[in-house]
Amino acid sequence: MDSANNQELSPKLSPDLSKATPPVAGATAAAPPTSAPAKAVPPGAKPAPKAAGAVVESAPDPPVNKMRRRIVWAAVVGFLATCFLMFLRFFLPRTIFEPASTFRIGSPSDYALGVDTKWQQQYRIWVTKTSDRLFVIYARCTHLGCTPDWKASENKFKCPCHGSGYDSEGINFEGPAPRPMDRAHVELDPEGQIRVDIARLYDWPKGESSDFDQPGAYISL
Ligand code: FES
Repeated sequence: MDSANNQELSPKLSPDLSKATPPVAGATAAAPPTSAPAKAVPPGAKPAPKAAGAVVESAPDPPVNKMRRRIVWAAVVGFLATCFLMFLRFFLPRTIFEPASTFRIGSPSDYALGVDTKWQQQYRIWVTKTSDRLFVIYARCTHLGCTPDWKASENKFKCPCHGSGYDSEGINFEGPAPRPMDRAHVELDPEGQIRVDIARLYDWPKGESSDFDQPGAYISL
């Protein structure tokens, strides 16, 4: 009865007893459990979710990636800054700043008889004084617009472009120039100074009457 009971109970008790029982000398040691072989992941399958609380350490970016990222950001910021400046420029007035067309050039007594070229560079004019008049010639050739040179030794203006010649009063006499050079408006202001306005010109068109004797085309001396 007792032996039968022991045989019946032994299968249930054997797992626990096998742990408690020391290995018998001479018996071969059981092979340690090996990890299960990794299952092949079928293509397209989602990776298995990570266990909650697991710490994932990502590898630091290589220096090449950092540099590439900086270059991309610099290009983006530069592009946006340029767009912003162009946007601001849209609201600024588009004004061309030119020298004033009206200016003062001193009093008639400041000029000697003949041609004075001291304002040529600044205002593109010459001042011509005769015995009874003072007038201002606008220094533009009537052929194609070049600026002639004053040749004091020859007492004439000579255009360097195509050779037109003008006398000391700007009247054409040689070359392809079709008519005399224009004259600018002149007047004396309350202080006795000559005021010139190069936006108001007097001309002498070919075959027509001259405007050179009109009031404002000269100052009587
Ligand atoms: S532009 Fe003066 S001669 Fe032609």
